[in-house]
Amino acid sequence: MPNAILTAMNLTRHFKVGGSLFTRPKTLRAVEDVSLTVQKGETLAIVGESGCGKSTLARMLMRLIAPTSGQMTFEGRQIDQAEGRALTELRRDMQFIFQDPFSSLNPRMTVGRLVGEPLETHAPQLSGKDRRAKVGELLAQVGLRPEHGERYPHEFSGGQRQRIGIARALASGPKLIIGDEPVSALDVSVQAQVINLLADLRDRLGLTLVVIAHDLAVIRHMSDRVAVMYLGKVVEEGPTDEIFATPRHPYTMALLSAIPEAEYGRTRAQIPLTGEMPSPIDPPAGCRFHTRCPFAREACKQDVPALRDTGIAPGHRAACHFFEEIAAEGAMPLPTGGTGRSEAAKARFALYAEAIAGQKTRPRAQP
Ligand SMILES: Nc1ncnc2c1ncn2[C@@H]1O[C@H](COP(=O)(O)OP(=O)(O)O)[C@@H](O)[C@H]1O
Ligand code: SF4
Ligand SMILES: [Mg+2]
Repeated sequence: MPNAILTAMNLTRHFKVGGSLFTRPKTLRAVEDVSLTVQKGETLAIVGESGCGKSTLARMLMRLIAPTSGQMTFEGRQIDQAEGRALTELRRDMQFIFQDPFSSLNPRMTVGRLVGEPLETHAPQLSGKDRRAKVGELLAQVGLRPEHGERYPHEFSGGQRQRIGIARALASGPKLIIGDEPVSALDVSVQAQVINLLADLRDRLGLTLVVIAHDLAVIRHMSDRVAVMYLGKVVEEGPTDEIFATPRHPYTMALLSAIPEAEYGRTRAQIPLTGEMPSPIDPPAGCRFHTRCPFAREACKQDVPALRDTGIAPGHRAACHFFEEIAAEGAMPLPTGGTGRSEAAKARFALYAEAIAGQKTRPRAQP
C-alpha cells in the first residue's frame, strides 16, 4: 500500500501465566492473528472492552514488547525483529502517550528536564542552550509556557500533565504517536481540550495517530478509521462514519447500542451486551463472540469467521459469518434509506476511496 506507514500481519501475542512446580503454565491469548494497516496522516482508533488486548497490541506496534508471531513494517521496513540501531530509530519515529504519563516518571525532575531528556538520546548534537530553547518550543507547542519548565510534575493538573507527556513524546520528532487511553483519566471538560490538541498537532506536524479509547464520542470526534477488538481479535474495521452509521458486526452494534439515542442522532436496533467477556486463557472456539451473540448459530461454535469486505465502503470489513443476513433481517441499519449516510459522510467516503487509490494521502473531515 503506497501510503501505509505501519502495517501488522497476523500479529499474535501469547503470555504464559500461572504454573508452579506441579502445574504447567497456561497460555493467555491476548492478541490473536491481527492484521491492520495505518495510513500516513490518518487517525486510527482502536476500541473494545477492557482486557480485549488493546494495550498489548499497541505495545507490539511500538515494539515495546515482541510479538509471539507475525510481521510488522514501519515505512516499508520490517520491524518485528528490529534491534540495536534499528530499534533506536524506531523509538525516535514512534512515540507512546500513556494514560498517566507521570506514574512512571521521576517526580524529582523538573518538567524542563523531563521534556528535554529524550533530546539527549535523539539529538545529542544540541548544546545546552539549544536544548533549553527546544524544550521551550515543545512546551509552547502543547500550550504551556517556558517558565513551566522550572516546575515539578505535582504542581500541575491532570490535563497539564498530559500536555507535558505529549511534549515529551514530541521531543524526538516522531512520525507516529500511539496514545493508550490518553484522556480516560481526565475530567470530561479537559478531555476535549487534550483531544483537540492532539488533532491540531497531527495536522500541524503531519503526524499519524493511533488512539486507543473506550469513549465512542472521542473516537467519533477525532478518528478517520476505527478497528473494533473483541477478545484478542479485530472483529470489524472501517471508516469512522461507516462504522457508526452501518456497523456490520453484532459486537460493534452492541457497543454502539450503549450510546444514548439523542447523542447518536439516528434510530437503530438495540443489541444488548450480556454477560462478561470470556477468559483469553481458554477463548471460545469458532467465533469468539458466540457465547454473547444474540444471532449465534451452530456453525458459529466451530468455524472461525474471517474479516470480509462488507461492500459498504472501501476498507470496511467485518468478521461475522452472517452479517449479510442479519442486516437484511433489519437488525442492523442499512447503508441506504431514510436514516442513511449524511452528505458529510458521503463526501468523506469519496475522499477515502481516492486515498485508497493512492491519489491523496488521507481523508480528513472538515470541522
Ligand atoms: N504482561 C502480561 N502478562 C500476562 N498477561 C497479560 C500481560 N499483559 C496483558 N495481559 C493479559 O492480556 C489480556 C489483554 O490485556 P490488555 O492488552 O491490557 O487489554 P486492554 O488494554 O484491552 O484492556 C488481559 O487478559 C491481560 O490480563
Ligand atoms: S459469526 Fe455468529 S456468533 Fe459470531 S458475530 Fe456472527 S452471528 Fe454472532
Ligand atoms: Mg489497556
